[in-house]
Amino acid sequence: MAKQEDFFRNVISHAKEYGYIFASSEIYDGLSAVYDYGQNGAELKKNIKDYWWKSMVQLHQNIVGLDAAILMHPTTWKASGHVDAFNDPLIDNKDSKKRYRADVLVEDYAEKINQKAQKEIAKAKKRFGDKFNEEEFVATNPRVIRYKKEEREILERLAKSLTDEDLVDVKALIEELGIACPESGSKNWTDVKQFNLMFGTKLGASADSATDLYLRPETAQGIFVNFSNVQKTGRMKIPFGIAQIGKAFRNEIVARQFIFRQREFEQMEMQFFVRPGEELKWFEHWKETRQNWHASLGLGEENYRFHDHEKMAHYANAATDIEFNFPFGFKELEGIHSRTDFDLKAHEEHSGKKLRFYDPEMKENYVPYVIETSIGLDRMFLAVFSASLKEEELEGGTSRTVLKLPAVLAPTKAAVLPLVKKDGLPELAHEIIEELKWDFRVQYDEKDAIGRRYRRQDAAGTPLCITVDHDSLEDKKVTVRYRDTMEQKRVAITELKEIIQQEVDFKSWMKK
Ligand code: GAP
Repeated sequence: MAKQEDFFRNVISHAKEYGYIFASSEIYDGLSAVYDYGQNGAELKKNIKDYWWKSMVQLHQNIVGLDAAILMHPTTWKASGHVDAFNDPLIDNKDSKKRYRADVLVEDYAEKINQKAQKEIAKAKKRFGDKFNEEEFVATNPRVIRYKKEEREILERLAKSLTDEDLVDVKALIEELGIACPESGSKNWTDVKQFNLMFGTKLGASADSATDLYLRPETAQGIFVNFSNVQKTGRMKIPFGIAQIGKAFRNEIVARQFIFRQREFEQMEMQFFVRPGEELKWFEHWKETRQNWHASLGLGEENYRFHDHEKMAHYANAATDIEFNFPFGFKELEGIHSRTDFDLKAHEEHSGKKLRFYDPEMKENYVPYVIETSIGLDRMFLAVFSASLKEEELEGGTSRTVLKLPAVLAPTKAAVLPLVKKDGLPELAHEIIEELKWDFRVQYDEKDAIGRRYRRQDAAGTPLCITVDHDSLEDKKVTVRYRDTMEQKRVAITELKEIIQQEVDFKSWMKK
């Protein structure tokens, strides 16, 4: 555990040191759970957005984009259910005065039991080696069976009490499990209360005529209210999707874990409209498609797992989370939800406008069903960043810190380094940059010995270094060094564009 916490601390300090993430308004001591993305962070974030947008919109003839406003008519949030049901169950510890999400306290407890089961499995795997049959072990080992049963019963009971809005039972569960405040160790809890997560704001100049608005808590509703606009003007036929990337705001009470849970964050969402009755087929389709998207980035299959929901959101008839192994354990990265016709129907009722599709094959007018894929951009950032940060032992007893970002996402694709700051080498390096800068973000660096510059670029996540030396002036060749393998090769300056392209190109990553 201590190791995990140390690694997480490293992730946070590395993100700051290399210009990826700063606390918001840091000179005023920051604002809790709000962050700014620095010079490298802004690039990485933009590249993640591009990777998502290209794979969801550009590669699909039947998916189009949208950029709806953050401020929406307030009835939107009544219709969507957010005014009445977008709540977190909160509980306070009377001694530490700390506030927690009651469901998260229980889920964390259940996860600890799951970890015990995983430990038993890992021990057995080590003992039996190649002969180990995990499925059989999980089904027959009494300890693992007990842990799994205990975990399942806790989660089922939590899901039932939340669905029934039985907050008394949520508190009873916390007490029965003996869950203590992580801060003070005390078990002196208040009752559990619901707390609405939407940020309110006002539209208008004078206090009495101002309209109460909300900052959107999800981008999805901007898509639903534009369903007919896009369908008609784009002549879209079912099945089709509308994708959007944008800011969302939630007044998270328990906002910890760096950029994982923020009050202002970005979502990349896609609503896929289908025929009623076909939604579960499309739900499976999008589960697989999104899994493949994640796999294409090479962050390690073992770092992902699906978690099917026990408790559905008020709008869903099937839901799963893609969880990622963050530095603090497996947590939700992306949600895939079968939202039925809940949203479009609710907007029809509240607006009095028809939100339907005339299906020429079925000769029928219907409210489409919806499959949603919803991923937090900031969480994807944290997944990519933390899975890429490595401490490597090198030959000769030295070590290096290297940020092995997928090259397609790296902020800077190549650094051009003159071996020395004289003899015409800086001029040739600048000439190379002038050529490459039209296609890639490249950086010049002449300070310090070449070895230190390599280390600096490794730690910043730059996949390639291009070194210009005295021979380059004569033979028009340079040395290309690869971040991940540290392999070096001599290539003609005219080949550079193609070499970088091969490493960072969207098409080659997606096709892999
Ligand atoms: N439209 C559906 C929806 O908003 P959600 O599960 O509440 O569903 C979707 O959110 C995704 O948004 C999550 O999987 C997560 O990646 C991201 N997300 C949610 N709350 C967040 C927060 N406070 N900070 C950062 N990301 C968040």
